[in-house]
Amino acid sequence: MNGKYNKMEIIVTKITENEILQLQEIGKKTFSETFSENNTEESMNEYLETSFSTEKLKSEINDENSEFYFAKLNDEVIGYLKLNTGSSQTEIKDNNALEIERIYVSKDFHGKKVGQILYEKAIEIASQKKVDYVWLGVWENNLRAIKFYQKNGFVEFDKHIFRLGNEEQTDIMMKLNLKN
Ligand SMILES: CC(C)(COP(=O)(O)OP(=O)(O)OC[C@H]1O[C@@H](n2cnc3c(N)ncnc32)[C@H](O)[C@@H]1OP(=O)(O)O)[C@@H](O)C(=O)NCCC(=O)NCCS
Repeated sequence: MNGKYNKMEIIVTKITENEILQLQEIGKKTFSETFSENNTEESMNEYLETSFSTEKLKSEINDENSEFYFAKLNDEVIGYLKLNTGSSQTEIKDNNALEIERIYVSKDFHGKKVGQILYEKAIEIASQKKVDYVWLGVWENNLRAIKFYQKNGFVEFDKHIFRLGNEEQTDIMMKLNLKN
């Protein structure tokens, strides 16, 4: 499985309510792959149970201000994207903005441009919605993700504290202007 994937091989599809179990699976898998090393098992489990519960995912999928997309390779889900606009943004809640809440790719597929394909989908949706800018929060120690967003033109504009279990962590807020 070497090299970058040809864009034709990766399919990006909008996630529907009958794909909740697949979303739950990729969501938990990629979140723990990303953060297990740096967090206690207890806070990780608590986060996974609350943030990826069937009820929560169901209401998020049915939220008209949120959109989820899968990246699939030969029908296998290898990553996903979550976008928010309007009041469904986790912060800021500016009607002229779009939040990339999550871009997650399975560890086995990192470095093969799958994240880039999901990212380009986010920008396509942001352009369709004619928002002025795209923003996101990324954990300050997640250097690979920060580099990934910088490569795509995002710049830091703020820092915010968030909680994972009982621990306080810092997110770097980054944005990309789409208007001149
Ligand atoms: C951040 C993320 C979405 C990037 O997706 P991706 O498909 O790996 O993106 P790319 O293929 O463009 O790789 C990004 C960079 O990471 C590096 N990289 C990532 N994984 C790598 C690996 N396994 N081996 C070597 N390099 C790797 C590459 O150097 C690449 O930089 P380049 O474009 O200069 O070559 C992905 O790494 C990911 O899902 N990480 C875990 C979840 C996460 O942190 N999400 C963001 C939360 S805000």
